[in-house]
Amino acid sequence: MAYLLGIDIGTSGTKTVLFDEVGNTISSALEEYPLYQPHIGWAEQDPEDWWQATVGGIRSVLAKSGVKAADISGIGLSGQMHGLVLLDADNKVLRPSIIWCDQRTTKECEQITSIIGAERLIEITANPALVGFTASKIMWVKNNEPAIYEKARKILLPKDYVRFRLTGEFATEVSDASGMQLMDIPGRCWSDEVLSKLGIDKSMLAELYESQEVSSKVNSAAAALTGLREGTPVVGGGGDQAAGAVGNGIVKPGVVSSTIGTSGVVFAYLDKISIDPKGRVQTFCHAVPNTWHVMGVTQAAGFSLKWFRDNLCNAEIATAELMDVDPYVLMDQEAERVLPGSNGLLYLPYLIGERTPILDSDAKGVFFGLSTLHKKRDMIRAVMEGVTFSLRDCMEIIMEMGVNISEVRASGGGGKSKLWKQMQADIFGTPITTINSSEGPALGVALLAGVGTGVYSSVAQACDTAIKIKNVQEPVMELYDKYTKMYGLYGQLYRSLKKDFKDLSAIMNSVYGD
Ligand code: XUL
Repeated sequence: MAYLLGIDIGTSGTKTVLFDEVGNTISSALEEYPLYQPHIGWAEQDPEDWWQATVGGIRSVLAKSGVKAADISGIGLSGQMHGLVLLDADNKVLRPSIIWCDQRTTKECEQITSIIGAERLIEITANPALVGFTASKIMWVKNNEPAIYEKARKILLPKDYVRFRLTGEFATEVSDASGMQLMDIPGRCWSDEVLSKLGIDKSMLAELYESQEVSSKVNSAAAALTGLREGTPVVGGGGDQAAGAVGNGIVKPGVVSSTIGTSGVVFAYLDKISIDPKGRVQTFCHAVPNTWHVMGVTQAAGFSLKWFRDNLCNAEIATAELMDVDPYVLMDQEAERVLPGSNGLLYLPYLIGERTPILDSDAKGVFFGLSTLHKKRDMIRAVMEGVTFSLRDCMEIIMEMGVNISEVRASGGGGKSKLWKQMQADIFGTPITTINSSEGPALGVALLAGVGTGVYSSVAQACDTAIKIKNVQEPVMELYDKYTKMYGLYGQLYRSLKKDFKDLSAIMNSVYGD
C-alpha cells in the first residue's frame, strides 16, 4: 500500500493529512497560528509559523498513524494563495508575509494598470490588477519599503516557502503562481512583458512546474526535523482553490464546487481558457495539465460567521464548551429556528472589502432591515444567507460566461453544515452534493503527489479512485423564488451604498491616517 501526504498551509492553521492510495484519511493534524493586523485593512503572518506548524504536523501524523516514513510515496503542498514572502541573499525572511486578504495596495493596483494597460493586463494575466494579488504587494514593498526590496533576492508564495524549508529548492507551480499576476496565463509561463514593465527581476521568481510534476525532494535537514525519509518526492501541488477542487473532483465540465472556508469560492473547470472581460471572476491555470479554471471569490465567507461568533456569541461559545460541541453547531441550531429570509434582515459580507463581483476594497459589512422583531438568531441566519447570496453572484457570472452547471459540490467548513448546504441549494436552485472526503486541498495535493510518483495514471483517474458522492440535497424551488427576491435587493443595496463606502474610507483615512 502506498501512502501520500498532503499539507495545506491555510490562513488559520496548517492541516497535515496522511492518506492511503484510495484516499482514506489515515491520520491528520491541525496546527494553528496567528494573523497580525497592524493597521486597518492589513493582514500579515510570520512564515516561520507556517514552517513550525508543518514540522509539528508531519511529526504528529507520522506518530499517530504508525506508517513508516519509507512507505510515503510522495508529498503535495497546498496553501493560501497570493501571499508575499521576500528572502534576502542568505535566504532569510525580510519582513512578515503580506497575505491574500490584505487590502493596502489600491494605489499599486492603479499603478500596475497604468503601466501595463487595463486590457493588456487582462489579456496576459487573465485578471485585472487586484489588491489581493502578489504583484501589487511586491509594488507596495518597492514603493514603501525600498530598503527592504533592495535586499530581496527571492519572491515566494506561502506554500513555496515551506517547500524551500523542506527541500532547499525554489519551486512553484502554475495554479498558485497564477495568483501572483506575473504569469502569462494562456501560455502557462512567467510573463517577460509583465516582469520587465514592473521592474521585477525574473531570477527572483521560483522555477515554474505543472502541479503534478515532482519539483524537489525532502533534504536531510528537513528529514531530521520531521521524521520523513530523505529524498521523498515533493510535487508542485496547488493553490488552495485548485488543490481543493482536485480534492472535490472538479476536474471535468459541469461539476462546480462551492467552498465556504475563511473565504468563499465558486470554482469551475475549463478545458479551454475563458476570461471575463470585466475581470469580476478570476481565470487561473488549473492543477490539471493544459486546463484552466474560473472562480468567483467572496472575501469574508466563513470569516463572516467566525467574526459574528467571536464578537457576539460568547454565550454560545461557553455553552458549547460545557456540551463539548462546536459553537457553530449551536449557532446552526439557532439559525434553523428562523424562516428563510431572516424576517427581512439582509447582510452584506464585505468585512474585508470584496472581490467578486464588485472588486471594491472600500466595501464594508452591513446588516440591513434591523427592527425590534429581530433576535440574535435572525442575525446568524442573515449572515449565512448573505454569504450565500454573495456566492450566487459568483455562480451567475460563471454561467454568463457559458459554463454549464449541473451539480454543485459543497466543501470547506461551511460544507459541514446541513443547514448552510440546504440554503445553498435553495438560493442557487441546484442540487448540492457532498463527497466522501472533507479534506479538500490536502486530499487534492496528495492525489497530485500520487500522479507525480506513478500511483495513479492521471488526475482524473486519481479522483475517480478516491472521490465518491455521499449525499445529495435537492433545492426547494418555492424557496428559490422567495430567495431570488431577497437576492435582488441584496445586489441593489451595494449599488446604493457604493459611494457611502468610499466616503467612509476617506473619513477613516483622514481621522486615523492611511
Ligand atoms: C484565492 C484566495 C483565497 C486564499 C485563502 O484567490 O484568495 O482562497 O487562497 O484561502
